[in-house]
Amino acid sequence: MPETWTEICRLDELPVGGRKLVKHNDLEVALFNIDGTIYAIKNRCPHRSGPLIRGFIDLTGGIKCPMHGWRFDLRDGSSERPATATVYPVKIDNDGVYLRLP
Ligand code: FES
Repeated sequence: MPETWTEICRLDELPVGGRKLVKHNDLEVALFNIDGTIYAIKNRCPHRSGPLIRGFIDLTGGIKCPMHGWRFDLRDGSSERPATATVYPVKIDNDGVYLRLP
């Protein structure tokens, strides 16, 4: 099956240091631009659905949920807590931000 990429926003909507909540059908995805790299993570924390778009970014590529502070790695969703966040592959093409979504 071919890979399907969805253009979710334009790159200029997400400057370095910026964040943006996007929606695709019923799915909410939190986007972050950290030093020019775009990360995409499902907005609902796997613990109790806290909004990760309002989370706290750290210097090692992690995000802490604003509700109870669980930390997830933005690269693969991993955590020291008993849960894994869902992250999505990102590609930039012709100044568009594309996600590979389920
Ligand atoms: S809802 Fe995210 S840590 Fe509890």
